[in-house]
Amino acid sequence: MTNDPKAPLTLLDEKNYAFDAPRVKPTQSKGGQSAYFSCWDIHAYYGESYIVQGVSFDIREGEIVALLGRNGAGKTSTLRAIARVDNPALKHGEIWLDHQPLHEMKAWQAARVGIGLVPEDRRIIQGLTVEENLKLAQIAPPHGWSIERIYDLFPRLGERKSQEGTTLSGGEQQMLAIGRTLARDVKLLLLDEPYEGLAPVIVQEIERTLEQIKQLGMTTIIVEQNAIAALHLADRAIILDMGTVVFDGGAQEVLDNADLRQEYLAI
Ligand SMILES: Nc1ncnc2c1ncn2[C@@H]1O[C@H](COP(=O)(O)OP(=O)(O)O)[C@@H](O)[C@H]1O
Ligand SMILES: [Mg+2]
Repeated sequence: MTNDPKAPLTLLDEKNYAFDAPRVKPTQSKGGQSAYFSCWDIHAYYGESYIVQGVSFDIREGEIVALLGRNGAGKTSTLRAIARVDNPALKHGEIWLDHQPLHEMKAWQAARVGIGLVPEDRRIIQGLTVEENLKLAQIAPPHGWSIERIYDLFPRLGERKSQEGTTLSGGEQQMLAIGRTLARDVKLLLLDEPYEGLAPVIVQEIERTLEQIKQLGMTTIIVEQNAIAALHLADRAIILDMGTVVFDGGAQEVLDNADLRQEYLAI
């Protein structure tokens, strides 16, 4: 790949995974049904710092998984490793989404085959209106939702489509960050603390939207400090502690198990 800023955007020397045939047979998840997403024994590092220490889990199509754990447990790092961003560096393990080997990909390729990461800091692009932020997400195929459909889900964005994105309230910026991700063809939605820093009434509004997205069968991993809210939305919960999985089971099991919540979530 060239670093010449004037070079055309087509990266012909990179493998175009989106149009490749499936690379493997379906894997088997614990229930015997085939897994839509799996990560197997992933290990990831920030430089010398060993953070994601052998994480494995499967997700079935349409399932919502709450990825929980105390501050610093490795939740964001796990999402970032799955999305194949440069840091943390994935040093070992396999990650598969709908038969595609994410562990062999760069972030842009993982996005192209359906990873949609909504980062904690939302990254709304300065100087662009709401609508321009959404249109930018659709600059290259594969396209997901139309802009009209995103405005149907988030009417506030439609009302503010000509407003500069960075001048929106925190809740509206979160809606824009989610909307922008849905504008791409997403197979696995990764939400990193979507309720963080938002007033309870706005959290409820975003929760209702995520319920709607859930009804559409979107496979999702939600990381949240507000574990109770995430558990109400989720089918399953995975709890991380010090970069390893310490619980993988039903969301209701965690809601029912005060000892588990106290030990790993401090709630
Ligand atoms: N860019 C980074 N460089 C070095 N260490 C990092 C970096 N980002 C996070 N860490 C460390 O990785 C650990 C897990 O962080 P993180 O994945 O953000 O946890 P969580 O999202 O569960 O709060 C923490 O100890 C944190 O200090
Ligand atoms: Mg985090």
